[in-house]
Amino acid sequence: MKKPRISVIGVGYVGLCTAVGLASKGYSVLACDVDEQKISKINQGIPPFHEPGLQEKLSESIKKGNLKGVVGQTDQVIEETDLTFVAVGTPSKPDGSIDLKYIESAACNIGKALKQKDSYHVTIIKSTVVPGTTQNIVKPLLEKESKKTCGVDFGLCMNPEFLRQGSAFQDTLNADRVVIGAYDKQSGDTLEDLYKDFYSAHTPPIIRTTLSTAELIKYASNAMLATKISFINTIANICEQIPGADVKVVATAMGLDKRIGPLFLDAGLGYGGSCFPKDVKALIACSKKLGYDPELLDSVEQVNKTQPLKAVKFCKEQLGKLEGKNIAILGLAFKPDTDDMREARVIPIINQLLKEGANVTAYDPVAMPIAKTIFDNKISYATSALKCLKNADSCIIVTEWEEFKKLTPEDFTKNMKQPILIDGRRMFNPETFKTKMQFVALGLGK
Ligand code: UGA
Repeated sequence: MKKPRISVIGVGYVGLCTAVGLASKGYSVLACDVDEQKISKINQGIPPFHEPGLQEKLSESIKKGNLKGVVGQTDQVIEETDLTFVAVGTPSKPDGSIDLKYIESAACNIGKALKQKDSYHVTIIKSTVVPGTTQNIVKPLLEKESKKTCGVDFGLCMNPEFLRQGSAFQDTLNADRVVIGAYDKQSGDTLEDLYKDFYSAHTPPIIRTTLSTAELIKYASNAMLATKISFINTIANICEQIPGADVKVVATAMGLDKRIGPLFLDAGLGYGGSCFPKDVKALIACSKKLGYDPELLDSVEQVNKTQPLKAVKFCKEQLGKLEGKNIAILGLAFKPDTDDMREARVIPIINQLLKEGANVTAYDPVAMPIAKTIFDNKISYATSALKCLKNADSCIIVTEWEEFKKLTPEDFTKNMKQPILIDGRRMFNPETFKTKMQFVALGLGK
């Protein structure tokens, strides 16, 4: 079978990993974005964000000529390819609903290009969009601009992405499932053939469904994972009231029940990132608009709002007033292996510490440049974890980077003014640390 030529519009995490994944398996891919700087980096083989494993495959694909970055020019990329993945951003509006302006603009441009194109082309929405968007917004725009009929002259699918930042490229190559929402059978078959060829012997289960169900599967999956996190954080908060209780042991035992499973039961300071907070809010807003108040999801969000501030509460319990106290923050990224700080739980923590008059020094292995754009000179920046601990009255672990796991009790006791450690991600063994310093861990009964 001749491999279809692919274009990807929008080169964020989802778009670029899709583009590089396909290019690394021999497909000819055009990656298109309005951001000239991003495209220029991509064409030099440099990913515009930190993502393990991506750099090597990107530069290899560029060298081989399988991948090319293009600025704008949707008409050209549509003409030169057979399938287009749309992976543009869908940011939140102030009321929590999603802003579809980039989706609408991509659909208009693709529609205009389809007007000029003679051969069959399938557009695939990969961005996370609320149920109904592909059917009620994308399809009409494509038809209006192309003056053609969806399902007859061109194809349309909704194909959500489930990759995680930090393992995005590996997730692209090893998916648990592929969800294909299709407007019509031919569109769905075309995309299914692509995935079967892409994964060959390792093709995961493929779920064929309607456009709206595919859209909802993405939100339901993220809302379920966010619910698991807020649930275990609730159990952690209960554990803290019970002498001798430990949420880590509770989660391990719960996870052995096949119906529950062990993943996403790590209690901590809450979930962040560009997906869970935005998607839970969008699902709530969409549901309310449809006339149903999803109370459970409201609670999931509420728990996540208060959870990070527990780190500040713990600090105050140990130090009394925070005014003039030196607080060391280890970890700024919303999770390890990324430099992304979108909705990072450290942001409300640092803001509250500053409000209470504390002096904050922070360190993160990769997110420091981004942190500087957020906090500027309101906080100090250390060049290593040990330097961050120097002279601190208390240290809060916010992100569980692998390199922090190597820190010993002596690293804290020798460097800090007062060795008070607040383990917000349950990285350290309480038995080892408790005897050597004041050690407070989330979800650990006093
Ligand atoms: C999440 C989903 O896991 C992906 O499947 C999905 O494709 C993606 O959103 C998306 O919609 O694009 P991601 O945001 O990259 O992926 O990160 P996760 O690994 O899911 O972590 C999200 C947050 O939850 C992090 O702040 C992490 O620290 C927190 N978390 C995760 C916990 O607090 N406890 C856990 O047990 C797991």
